[in-house]
Amino acid sequence: MLEDNFWYVYNNAQSDEPRDFVFEVLKLGSDVLKSDELEVLELGCGQGRDTKEFLRRGFSVSAVDIDGASLNQIQVEQSEKIKKINKKFEDLVLERNSYDLIYSHYSIPFCEKKSFYMFWENILLSLKKNGILAVQLLGDRDDWASDVQVTTLNFKETKSLFKGFELLKFEELEFSKPSFNQDEKKWHVYEVVAQKN
Ligand SMILES: C[S@@+](CC[C@H](N)C(=O)[O-])C[C@H]1O[C@@H](n2cnc3c(N)ncnc32)[C@H](O)[C@@H]1O
Repeated sequence: MLEDNFWYVYNNAQSDEPRDFVFEVLKLGSDVLKSDELEVLELGCGQGRDTKEFLRRGFSVSAVDIDGASLNQIQVEQSEKIKKINKKFEDLVLERNSYDLIYSHYSIPFCEKKSFYMFWENILLSLKKNGILAVQLLGDRDDWASDVQVTTLNFKETKSLFKGFELLKFEELEFSKPSFNQDEKKWHVYEVVAQKN
């Protein structure tokens, strides 16, 4: 069980620089993501380090996070281009065919197990045809696999989430590295960038 202010403390301990994953996704999806009129859904945006990079490029961003205090910290000049949504993934209602890019950096697994497939279906329906989905998911050999507040999936389950997509990147990683609240942690991660057919 995480402390009430865990995500606020976590987000505030991070750098303000965009993650490398943003640039990788923009490159892999460049055929679709070259326009500056894009609608982006960012899931688990934290204090907005990647959100700000999307806004800087002229994109409109619907930025979702369970932690309202982190969302409040996102101060941007392009305020008409950002919609802050303070909801948990499990309660999110998304409109169909709305987004060109759905982006999430290390956040989707924090959807609780019992709601994951409903949440995933919600995401898939809200992505436009040819849209890009960019996420990390956690595998069944991750140390957090027994935590009901975290969704972990085996290889077959992960692959089957992307039926009807072309995989631009599908990388499975296993490594040991401290997490924010643990000195040592085994990570089992799928990093995926995919285009909807
Ligand atoms: C590991 S952080 C990643 C934050 C940011 N994307 C980054 O890369 O720095 C996970 C984020 O997901 C949010 N989060 C965790 N569980 C959530 C849930 N069930 N619904 C919505 N957001 C959630 C947290 O508040 C946090 O900002």
